[in-house]
Amino acid sequence: MSQRKLFVTTALPYANGNFHIGHIMEYIQADTWVRAQRMQGNAVNFVGADDAHGAPIMIAAEKAGKTPQQFVADIAAGRKPYLDGFHIAFDNWSNTDSPENHALSKQIYLDLKQAGFIETRTIEQFFDPEKNMFLPDRFIKGECPRCHAKDQYGDNCEVCSSVYAPTDLINPFSALSGATPVLKTSEHFFFKLSDPRAVEFLTEWTQDGKHVQPEVAAKIKEWFGVRTNPDGSTSEGLDDWDISRDAPYFGIEIPDAPGKYFYVWLDAPVGYLASLKELLNRRGEDYDAYMADPDLEQYHFIGKDIITFHTLFWPAMLKFSGRKTPTRICVHGFMTVNNGEKMSKSRGTGLDPLKYLSLKMNPEWLRYYLGAKLNGRNEDIDFNPEDFMLRVNSDLIGKYVNIASRAAGFISKRFEGKLGAVSEDGQTLLAALREQKDAIVAAYEGRDTARAAREIMLLCDKVNSYVDANKPWELAKQEGMDARLQDVCTTCIEAFRLLTIYLKPMLPAVATQVEAFLNVQPLQFADAATLLGAGHGIGKYEHLMQRVVVEQLDALFEPPAAPVVEAVKPGGEEIAPTITIDDFAKIDLRIAKIVECKAVEGSTKLLQLTLDAGEGKMRNVFSGIASMYRPEQLEGKLTVLVANLAPRKMKFGISEGMVLAASHADEKAEPGIYVLEPFPGAQPGMRIG
Ligand code: MSP
Ligand code: ZN
Repeated sequence: MSQRKLFVTTALPYANGNFHIGHIMEYIQADTWVRAQRMQGNAVNFVGADDAHGAPIMIAAEKAGKTPQQFVADIAAGRKPYLDGFHIAFDNWSNTDSPENHALSKQIYLDLKQAGFIETRTIEQFFDPEKNMFLPDRFIKGECPRCHAKDQYGDNCEVCSSVYAPTDLINPFSALSGATPVLKTSEHFFFKLSDPRAVEFLTEWTQDGKHVQPEVAAKIKEWFGVRTNPDGSTSEGLDDWDISRDAPYFGIEIPDAPGKYFYVWLDAPVGYLASLKELLNRRGEDYDAYMADPDLEQYHFIGKDIITFHTLFWPAMLKFSGRKTPTRICVHGFMTVNNGEKMSKSRGTGLDPLKYLSLKMNPEWLRYYLGAKLNGRNEDIDFNPEDFMLRVNSDLIGKYVNIASRAAGFISKRFEGKLGAVSEDGQTLLAALREQKDAIVAAYEGRDTARAAREIMLLCDKVNSYVDANKPWELAKQEGMDARLQDVCTTCIEAFRLLTIYLKPMLPAVATQVEAFLNVQPLQFADAATLLGAGHGIGKYEHLMQRVVVEQLDALFEPPAAPVVEAVKPGGEEIAPTITIDDFAKIDLRIAKIVECKAVEGSTKLLQLTLDAGEGKMRNVFSGIASMYRPEQLEGKLTVLVANLAPRKMKFGISEGMVLAASHADEKAEPGIYVLEPFPGAQPGMRIG
């Protein structure tokens, strides 16, 4: 069989946080597949990268007081311990802000434009007049147009789940500045997926049974049908895809369109190619020649939430820019921990991959456990601690490792580490093991590692039955049974080697240890056809793997201890010295209605309030709350007035009292000032006490 040439990627994680267990699951699945390919002699380039661009990262960087580049670099610097820790062996890890990606993304865009797939259109969007930027849906909030819940996002309501356009929100405001957004027109660039050529290509590509799993193809099919849009109208076929965003945006500038950037999802998948290109350049290989090989296969491992991007936009981008389209999109479901329990008191908040490693839990336990659950279909899987412990201990320790530990001691102690001849019953057993090789390799190919694990464990059972039937520990005590003892133990070691070959994609570090112990070159699948043979010398057996103990799981899910605080300072300051009730009675607090509220010309801090405290006349009060409230937000509301405070002359006029508001002592650490509002029923003039 000729060697296959494979280019493999995982989805590029957003560079706004550390890896979580869902990312690690995806990498373990892909890494296992890649290792199985390499063990067949196939040539694989396996790459990843950080997805650096987009508004959320730009805004997070601004909040952290960093440039987006620095912010992304800091996240990237933390990636290695996760990848090394779980034996995830990417050949290259890049990021989508690389020069390669800038150049490739622009070139693909220009090629699409050349082919007539780019169109500009003027659209209306919400714009934040204070931040001077168009607002992504996530950063617009307001009242739900359907159920009137307050403080809902621009795209859907978390209370009644209805979906709408940001322009449908009642009293919308910018989540960035609090300002009321204004509608503003802007020219946007679109990728014309509605073009009949695109519809025809994608219908075939997604439905021909070659590029995605059947359950994924069925899901995609629905997107081609008749749909009801949020505004009630219907559409059929595919919608054009809005691929541009206006400055300020952290992204790649669109050629010949100053101030316009590619939407992050345009340049993100191009990052696959850019990371590969970076790798090949580093090795002095030619990227164009590599990609031009018609036999090159391109595989993308992704989760179910990003199917559209990888089965519609990405293949179409490649196809109509004259490039090679992916061979397969391998979609996995989501991983949950403790049945998706988000916040469990006893088990903490999930599974922190670094904590797992720091507790010295074996990374291959997780690789095997996930492997034994993943079946290549788009299905969710759950990490259950008890199930994890049972599965690892019974399969890996009880069935697999056990075989070596039962036989190796006799070979070293009694036969100077030399294997002997295998008699007929042993040969039959080994033949049965070899016979399963193709099925196991096929299971790996289809990412059905659950089936591979099942088959391998059945083989382990067979070997253990052989050991139980032949009882080497009894043979060892009997006179004249040396040859049989060596024969039985040799059979076990030969069998153990075959099982190690089969498990190696899931257990790469254990396999390396076994290779040293057996004194052999790195094991490949083809080695399953051979035996070590009589006379082969093996090394001393060292225990390969510990069992999982419940204390480790308890520690893993134990909620992090609350930080020890020396003296608690609520709101950043200590409680003031004690006063008597008479002291308190000196302060006359009254309910007041904010009848009118105005900005103060010449001051960015103050708002001018006209208050009705039931006195038959109005009070004028200046309050330093302009950073938090717009005048119209306060008008008509009730609040609390310090009614007997001496009037104070200010630059803008006389302030006749003070309204109550809450803030943290350290305004820099916790900015924000919040005006007090009484429960319903309170009336202007009522005294508070
Ligand atoms: N940046 C995009 C992908 C761009 S690809 C050109 C993105 N990033 S992500 O960080 O949100 O997700 C990265 C991958 O992790 C996706 O494939 C996603 O499906 C996967 N997972 C995120 N949470 C997951 C689980 N809980 N379980 C399994 N995989 C999950 O999307
Ligand atoms: Zn609602």
